[in-house]
Amino acid sequence: MAAPSPVSQATAQVPRRALVTGASSGIGEATARELAAAGYSVALLARRAEELERVAKSLPRPEAHLCLPCDLRDAAAVAAALAKVKERFGAIDLVVQNAGHGCLARVEDTSPEAARSVLATNVTAVVDVARESLPLLRAGARPVMVLVSSIVARRGIPGQVVYAASKAALNSIAEGLRIEWAEDGIAVCALDVTLTRTAFFATQPNPRGLPGPNLAGADSPQRVARAVLDLDREPQPEVWLAWKWRMIAFLSLLAPRTADRMLVKRLGGGWTAPRR
Ligand SMILES: NC(=O)c1ccc[n+]([C@@H]2O[C@H](COP(=O)([O-])OP(=O)(O)OC[C@H]3O[C@@H](n4cnc5c(N)ncnc54)[C@H](OP(=O)(O)O)[C@@H]3O)[C@@H](O)[C@H]2O)c1
Repeated sequence: MAAPSPVSQATAQVPRRALVTGASSGIGEATARELAAAGYSVALLARRAEELERVAKSLPRPEAHLCLPCDLRDAAAVAAALAKVKERFGAIDLVVQNAGHGCLARVEDTSPEAARSVLATNVTAVVDVARESLPLLRAGARPVMVLVSSIVARRGIPGQVVYAASKAALNSIAEGLRIEWAEDGIAVCALDVTLTRTAFFATQPNPRGLPGPNLAGADSPQRVARAVLDLDREPQPEVWLAWKWRMIAFLSLLAPRTADRMLVKRLGGGWTAPRR
């Protein structure tokens, strides 16, 4: 058998360093597990310290990881969290901006607080994390940022108007940053996730008790986590995890009325296709 090359030996000796936001549950937790299993050192960020500890302690090499209890809506807390990552890891090779929440409500039932929280968590905080992590990514190896977006980023939907708008903004951030950061060699990827079995729908504000989607045929968070790892290994500008939604997004540009009718049929829930 051929001896390993000096390059592959060096790569094997230096674990990649990742920051995962929203690592206390769902897709973020699965991503932290996938990365740790692949040998990464992971900084896990979310608000619930005890859930972060639970996840971190159950990972391979628990001593290699770092828990960062932090509310992303607080810009000073974000800066402090990234300072801790710098102190511990020195640099970051992969940032996974995954934290986010929705609001299941018609606009007329969406409180100002709920709307602002969705936008602060899913959009403003993403810019804050990007700004604060940039010096660490510049010091990293083959640096990558993955923004965990949604199939609704490219097509608005009823009952989740603010959430879909926040994910549209996220994809716009990915497109702009990709070019801003090209000179630093930092890859920026949008991952458009489809319906996934997590606590997402149960924990979001739902003032009128609207029915959430049927999660029976939904993706597993592990599938999304594997897609994140694939993007770190081979970055792509945008990856869709559901091609049917990609079609609806294209159709919305070409023939919006037809797309509306298709969407209403697909969503169920008693929505009416617009007639004017
Ligand atoms: N599940 C789906 O069907 C689906 C589909 C498309 C896209 N996505 C996207 O996937 C991402 C992960 O969602 P999920 O499905 O895994 O849901 P989840 O299990 O509810 O996870 C959301 C994560 O975000 C964290 N978070 C929320 N607000 C935060 C804040 N202010 N500061 C710090 N952390 C915060 C939560 O932790 P704490 O509560 O501990 O803070 C939690 O770890 C989201 O961006 C979501 O939009 C999900």
